[in-house]
Amino acid sequence: KRLILIGPPGSGKGTQSPLIKDDYCLCHLATGDMLRAAVAAKTPLGIKAKEAMEKGELVTDDLVVGIIDEAMKRPSCQKGFILDGFPRTVVQAEKLDGMLEKQGTKVDKVLNFAIDDAILEERITGRWIHPSSGRTYHTKYAPPKVLGVDDVSGEPLIQRKDDTAAVLKSRLEAFHRQTEPVIDYYSKKGVVAELPAEKTPKEVTAEVQKALSS
Ligand code: AP5
Ligand code: ZN
Repeated sequence: KRLILIGPPGSGKGTQSPLIKDDYCLCHLATGDMLRAAVAAKTPLGIKAKEAMEKGELVTDDLVVGIIDEAMKRPSCQKGFILDGFPRTVVQAEKLDGMLEKQGTKVDKVLNFAIDDAILEERITGRWIHPSSGRTYHTKYAPPKVLGVDDVSGEPLIQRKDDTAAVLKSRLEAFHRQTEPVIDYYSKKGVVAELPAEKTPKEVTAEVQKALSS
């Protein structure tokens, strides 16, 4: 399947995507993770993306479309994919559809992680991540066995630089202004499934499975 996960910061996209197990799991592309890796490695892409990311604004469409265009050429992405955090503007959605059209395919399902803004600050400020695996924890909702340490590798966990209440405000603003229109764009194509993202992680996984089997 060719899947897109859309939702505001902290809605659970990164938490659910590794749990959506199937063939297409081989190709899980999260533009935020890819950009953070580029920033950490100080590549030309990372240098261009850093400032916007720290402010909670979107990086330019050209930069992210370039990343996705490159990544989708991988053999593992031919059968299907999960896109987490892309497309985030209508221009990105149109570019993606153009790429898929050339391959004679299209997006099968867009999972819309619907959640009230008021819940997101607690989710975002309590998040800890293990950068190399992408494993995500939460001080209250998904605590690691040892505070600040990854359960599997024993390596330290970090907090994202943009996970502050102040930066969250701009990220939410960008979501409502630039990304919500993408949901309308795909609604018109009849491929959107709305998920109640306020439920517990397990319940949300069950909802994802239900949406994918229908
Ligand atoms: P990105 O990395 O995509 O960040 P985001 O969209 O803000 O989303 P998050 O990663 O914050 O949320 P999530 O839904 O994955 O939440 P998670 O599952 O971790 O983008 C970062 C930046 O990169 C952007 O601001 C932009 O600058 C740039 N960028 C990226 N893509 C771009 C694009 N296409 N175009 C332009 N710019 C782009 O969950 C959060 C916390 O909640 C965790 O601690 C988790 O344990 C907990 N949690 C999860 N589910 C539940 C639950 N059901 N109940 C309780 N707690 C839960
Ligand atoms: Zn994420």
